[in-house]
Amino acid sequence: MTVSFEKIVSLKGSTTVPADKSITHRSFIFSSMAKGVSEIINPLMSRDTIATMNAMNAVGVEFEKIENGFRIISEGYRGFTEANNIINCDNSGTTARLLTGLFSPQKRYFSLTGDDSLRKRPMDRVKKPLSDMGASIVLRKEKYLPMIICPSNMYPSDIMATVSSAQVKSAVILAGAQLEGITSYTEIETTRNHTETMLKDFGADIRIDGKKVSIIGPVELIPQKFFVPGDFSSAAFFIGAALMFENSEIEIKNVGINPTRTGFLDVLRMLGVSVELSYNDQKSEPTGNIFIKNQPFSGGKISGALIPNIIDEIPLIATLGLFAREPIEIRDAEELRVKESDRIASVVHNIKEIGGKVEEFHDGLKVYPLENGINKSAILKSFHDHRIAMINILLSKRFGNISIDEVSAIDVSFPDFLERLKFLEVVIA
Ligand code: S3P
Repeated sequence: MTVSFEKIVSLKGSTTVPADKSITHRSFIFSSMAKGVSEIINPLMSRDTIATMNAMNAVGVEFEKIENGFRIISEGYRGFTEANNIINCDNSGTTARLLTGLFSPQKRYFSLTGDDSLRKRPMDRVKKPLSDMGASIVLRKEKYLPMIICPSNMYPSDIMATVSSAQVKSAVILAGAQLEGITSYTEIETTRNHTETMLKDFGADIRIDGKKVSIIGPVELIPQKFFVPGDFSSAAFFIGAALMFENSEIEIKNVGINPTRTGFLDVLRMLGVSVELSYNDQKSEPTGNIFIKNQPFSGGKISGALIPNIIDEIPLIATLGLFAREPIEIRDAEELRVKESDRIASVVHNIKEIGGKVEEFHDGLKVYPLENGINKSAILKSFHDHRIAMINILLSKRFGNISIDEVSAIDVSFPDFLERLKFLEVVIA
């Protein structure tokens, strides 16, 4: 059974977005590592973050529901117990990769698995650096989940990144946090730095020197009361929507605007878009409000150091090529091929299906402005990928009643996307 949505003329008004997924995962993990009682206020409750919560619960950490969040009661990372079953990371790469780092120095057996999509994603990228630190990890076909982590004697090391990934960086830092001495990780390009900023808030000794992050272990984390800001990557869908729907004017409030996440705004400015950003506070994870109006914008080529900063927004940026004055080309983004779906192939498939012109490269794609009408009988596919499903919903509403195979994947990061969108919708011109 396919789904489709009525045509929307424009989007107007003010909204908030669900809490940040990356920060919620980390708030659950770091609170679990701290001995005592932490409070996480406004966490994202989605399939991905619930997987992390269940995993920490499986090793003996208690989560108690309080108003607008959780009280997390833990014996600290030295007090984790053995999980009595396989830990299911569901669809969440962040859960699988961060927990591999967290559990590998624990001198116990752990086994991790995930859903059909996660079991196809590479885990050797975390096994490699952790093995260089002495970890003992067994992967299916030496690359995939299910994984078994075995007891080992790990030691601090100086690791050089071979892939730009905040998840791999975080795995190494979380292992290093439990080892006696200095563990360093040098990035190729800077990726999101929530692990560094938040571990500092929890009292860890973390030092940053350009692209090199060092942690001095073993850490004694101090329980925190932590507020999770809105997710910039979820806000991006409203920002993109403002550019897709004529006459739109949208304000998005209380969004996390950590500069390692907001490259999408830099890209938009490069494309000539005027977007306003006002700061609310300047904490380690700053927040602000974003205001954007529908306006014409140019195309361009996006590649290089910016790519890790916009990694989750690239499918949306590419799709905006349909609405730009010139084509939008993305390169150096081969990482997209190993996300929740092969996001290069997913976007290419849907652009072609809707009647647009697109070129596919091994490391990116080029989307041309729509010239002729669209194919009204298109059936867009979501590939069980939350971000592709949300783009499809926007396209269906933009052109009116375009069919989509299914959209249930939105539960992974933005369960109430349809409700929040509805609130802004203007149906009649
Ligand atoms: C994430 C890092 C990114 C991103 C993912 C969340 C994180 O993955 O795509 O949605 O929370 O660390 P990579 O680090 O694999 O690029």
